[in-house]
Amino acid sequence: MTDHYAVIGNPISHSKSPLIHSLFAAQTGQDLQYEAVEAPLAGFIETIATLQQEGYRGCNVTVPFKLAAWQLSNQLSPRAQLAEAVNTLTFQADGIHGDNTDGAGLVRDIQRNLGCDLRHKKILLLGAGGAAQGVLHPLLNTQPGLLVISNRTLDKAINLKNKAQRFPAFAEIDIRAEKFAGLTHAFDVVINATSAGLSDSAIPLPSSIFAIHALAYDMMYGRETPFLKFAREHGARTADGLGMLVEQAAESFEIWRDVSPDSQAVLKQLRQQ
Ligand code: ATR
Repeated sequence: MTDHYAVIGNPISHSKSPLIHSLFAAQTGQDLQYEAVEAPLAGFIETIATLQQEGYRGCNVTVPFKLAAWQLSNQLSPRAQLAEAVNTLTFQADGIHGDNTDGAGLVRDIQRNLGCDLRHKKILLLGAGGAAQGVLHPLLNTQPGLLVISNRTLDKAINLKNKAQRFPAFAEIDIRAEKFAGLTHAFDVVINATSAGLSDSAIPLPSSIFAIHALAYDMMYGRETPFLKFAREHGARTADGLGMLVEQAAESFEIWRDVSPDSQAVLKQLRQQ
């Protein structure tokens, strides 16, 4: 019998997840169907209940429902607990299991696809909203030497740093919160998790933030953001977030199916399109 999955969001028509998951299913010979479902803005819980009644096995959750999915979950993975957001729901006999694969997707893209080992490195995370919080646990799990969270509104960066430091596993890691203008280190990896690129806005960063051979990573994909342009002009190697998108999907697929798809082949295919 074919197993059913979906991605829930609003809007959702632009989502690449159905394509990515069908490519994974074809590759691994898994008998599943995956579709995009638009939930009404005030109807997320009802939409999930309907999918459960119809026998769906799980779903991905995207904007603007990741917080609602976190609240709805009966069990949460540690990374979803720190993220306070869920992008992967699995419907089990004992309730709804919530996980967040965004950070694992980011880390896998940086470490495996881009060949940049994060252990002991100096990492700068720009932004302290949902996107930044969503990737924090897996980033810290790589045991960086330093993680600085920098945000336009400093209080939000401090708040995020404090949340991360409450996890005993991260007690030994040097985590700091700083203003953009106060950034004095040169970083090996700079990750843009702000939404500044959506409005084509530049972030007022000192150019000295890029160490030699630094990687600048923007979680947005599809075009060169002002952040990536700035990074390229100051000698950094740049990457957009398409790899993260594919890798977070691969991680969800693995949670549901216990099979690891060839995400690099799918990423290559998407890049060619
Ligand atoms: P998301 O879920 O995409 O993270 P969010 O929770 O609204 O969305 O957070 C947006 C993030 O982008 C915040 O860190 C925000 O900074 P503030 O906390 O100061 O609002 C950041 N951001 C948005 N526009 C920005 C800009 N033009 N320059 C710098 N940071 C910006």
